[in-house]
Amino acid sequence: LEKLKIELASSIREFPDFPKKGILFRDIMPIFQKPQLVTNLCVAIAAHAVAEIPVPVDAVAGLEARGFLFGPQIAAILNVPFIPIRKQGKLPGKTVRATYVKEYGEDVVEVQSDALKPGAKVMIVDDLLATGGTMKAAIEVIQKAGGDVAEAFCIIELAALKGRDVLLDTVPVFTLLSF
Ligand code: PRP
Ligand code: HPA
Repeated sequence: LEKLKIELASSIREFPDFPKKGILFRDIMPIFQKPQLVTNLCVAIAAHAVAEIPVPVDAVAGLEARGFLFGPQIAAILNVPFIPIRKQGKLPGKTVRATYVKEYGEDVVEVQSDALKPGAKVMIVDDLLATGGTMKAAIEVIQKAGGDVAEAFCIIELAALKGRDVLLDTVPVFTLLSF
């Protein structure tokens, strides 16, 4: 896993002042230039889930958009369903929702109401933890859908933004790289 972290870190590019001035944007997309790294990463994350989450994971939930890059692969390796958590208005049928505050106004995430069996143990996956607002809403929406969040997982954590502090009282948080 340590060797993987070094290769992973070298595959993340930094863009100053994107998407706006003062933000140092970490771009994960170069990871996907290295298919073997993607495979090794998803296998390692699945192994982490088996070894370090104290309950068997019943489902992996991923956050639109970049949680969709990893979540389905991790779910497939674990042989459990993948549950999409999407921005408002994208999922058909009955949904549950949670609101969160972004830099400009509010945003809403949704999950289909029948996506989970009651009490299902869910691992939530995203690429990056910044302020934690998105992950907090994801936890809320999974709970509203009847799930029990076993772990909130992100590849990257921007430690200075203290997203972890927003979540720690609610669920276990695990990240691979901290910047
Ligand atoms: C980014 C990132 C996380 C979220 C983290 O997604 O992929 O989901 O921000 O930020 P937070 O911890 O401050 O809430 P973004 O909202 O840019 O959406 P996208 O993945 O659809 O581009
Ligand atoms: N990179 C990608 N997504 C983000 C970032 C970042 O640096 N900050 C907030 N969301």
